[in-house]
Amino acid sequence: MNTKNFRRTLVTSALPYANGPIHLGHLAGAYLHADIFVRFKRLKQEVVLFICGSDEHGVPITLTAEEEGVSPKVIIDRYHEMNLKAFEDFGISFDNYSRTSLTIHHKTAQEFFLKYYQNGILKQKKEFQFFDEKAKMFLPDRYIVGTCPHCGSNDARGDQCESCGSYLNSTELINPKSKVTGETPVLKETVHWYFPLGDYQTRLQKYIEEKNKQEGWKENVLNYCKNWFDEGLQDRAITRDLDWGVKVPLKDNENKVLYVWFEAVLGYISSTKEWAEKKNQPDEWKKYWLDSETKYIAFIGKDNIVFHCIVFPAMLMAWNDLSEEKYILPDNVPANEFLNYEGLKFSKSRGWGIYLKDFLEHFPPDPLRYYLASILPENRDADFYWRDFQAKNNNELADILGNFVNRTLTFTEKHFNSMVPEAASLNEIDRQLLVQIPQFKVRIEQLFEKIKIKDAVNEIMNLARLGNKYFNDSQPWKTINENRESCATTINLSIQLIRTLAVMFSPIIPFTAEKIFSMLNISDESLKLWDGSAEPKIPVGHKIGKPTILFTKIDDKLIEPFLNSQEKEEISKMKINRKTITVDDFKRVEIKIAKVIGCEKVKNSKKLLKLQVDLGDENRQVIAGLAEFYEPGELVGKKVLLVSNLNELKLMDEISQGMVLTVEDENKKLKIITVDESLPIGCLLK
Ligand code: MF3
Ligand code: ZN
Repeated sequence: MNTKNFRRTLVTSALPYANGPIHLGHLAGAYLHADIFVRFKRLKQEVVLFICGSDEHGVPITLTAEEEGVSPKVIIDRYHEMNLKAFEDFGISFDNYSRTSLTIHHKTAQEFFLKYYQNGILKQKKEFQFFDEKAKMFLPDRYIVGTCPHCGSNDARGDQCESCGSYLNSTELINPKSKVTGETPVLKETVHWYFPLGDYQTRLQKYIEEKNKQEGWKENVLNYCKNWFDEGLQDRAITRDLDWGVKVPLKDNENKVLYVWFEAVLGYISSTKEWAEKKNQPDEWKKYWLDSETKYIAFIGKDNIVFHCIVFPAMLMAWNDLSEEKYILPDNVPANEFLNYEGLKFSKSRGWGIYLKDFLEHFPPDPLRYYLASILPENRDADFYWRDFQAKNNNELADILGNFVNRTLTFTEKHFNSMVPEAASLNEIDRQLLVQIPQFKVRIEQLFEKIKIKDAVNEIMNLARLGNKYFNDSQPWKTINENRESCATTINLSIQLIRTLAVMFSPIIPFTAEKIFSMLNISDESLKLWDGSAEPKIPVGHKIGKPTILFTKIDDKLIEPFLNSQEKEEISKMKINRKTITVDDFKRVEIKIAKVIGCEKVKNSKKLLKLQVDLGDENRQVIAGLAEFYEPGELVGKKVLLVSNLNELKLMDEISQGMVLTVEDENKKLKIITVDESLPIGCLLK
């Protein structure tokens, strides 16, 4: 590798489809390690820009919209907001999270198309495609169902049969039907624009070879590309007969849009343009895309390799041939393998996996960031297991890092009046530690730079391990009485090491790192940087803050509900009768009798009522979806059943501290379950 020096780094993560919530598999594929890398760069005070956004076109979105009977806009708005929030809550620190439905994106994509079109690069080809005469539309492959010619399954799609996994052409299906109307489609001639990918093959091969020399590309990525090259690159259609998407900017093409992959990759550019506009420096995006002193790293999952290593670079090459503006190409595309969930592939349709937003309702972000980062599928597929998650949290975050921080700081509080004591003399153990810390720093920095995030994380945890060992070997609880000067040294060095750890861990567990800094009472931002992180910078006499617990242990109880989920039993066909539960299962649910003492509608909500209930020894507020079935006045005075040990939730900005039990009648109306006046308020159901 002959590394070139760059002035700045552009980092992109694959734009997720706004067609469903982000799950943990997505995170481990293209977002978490990108975020860690970017945070590391910021820690080193390098110039870096982190770009992403929602991919809002494509057939899966229009299909979902049709299934729900709403417009595609409803779907993309819903999932764009949802995913933006989940990423934020998880600490993914994008500089911009755009949307491909924005005008700025449509314009950018059309500009690229026109540049090629006007310069005669695109080829026009006639072909036959299925057409639904009733719906008057050409059918994308996924809109056609029929019998699989290979396995006979009756619900094969025009692009793939899910039963046997074979890839299909829609014309191969036996007895094809349109998903829109159920009619048998007819073949009809249509014209599409093709990008001549094959013309770029030699240049693409050279490009990858060179970048690999400079940056060291991953084996999996190189192999994947090699297979494509061995097959020989073909022309690729870049238009489709649809109306949801970026319109083809030509006369007589009103019913055509750009193929979603053609325009989505350009979303990185339009998102950067949007970022620049938001900061009122509309040309600032050019510094990133049009300056060869920018290094560009594109983070993706392995299913996106061809688009990022072959199609997108070819598109940029084609542009660069025709324009004064020269785009940079990805310098590295570190595609990850897949993350599985409890031994099986994530599957939306089978309900297998867990969405990020749901996860975050039960657990804070950092333990998940740490766990996923320590098992990232960088070189082979990896697995999320609840038991491993629990073990990583309890045995590493809590018992190693948390313990080291906690024992050091409580010791300081107790024996040194919360002040950093002086390290007046060093013994052999102290000297050893001081030699090792900078060595760790060098290794960890190299790993981060090479985007070996998993190894970096494990190495930082080793440093925390070393801290604990140092504390044990030094036995400050003994030396405090026998050799106070030596004890002071131990505590000083331990506190210094805590700061080192907080800095190094900050890209991985940023929320916790901030907590540690505040326990150390460090607000000086210069002490939170990579530079100098291995040096003892906290002055003697500095007063530390109040130590609190950094990580709570995750009890079996908390993860069992996920392990026992129905799907798991169904899929793994374990011989458990899932209809039965144990008495202990039942006892975990606390149901109490409560009296409604107040009730009003929740502002801006058609469905929600805000109840005040009396539980005997306390009052609670409960938000319930009852407004369509009860007037607020009807409920006051009723005695109801309340699940009283639910996590607190927030609905429409209102806290809800429990759930009122209801039943659904034959008209799908909810009725509350009321109990006899004579039963005492607050008593527990058994
Ligand atoms: N939406 C695609 C996916 O989730 C990724 C698009 S990456 C882009 O697989 F670069 F094309 F935007
Ligand atoms: Zn099949």
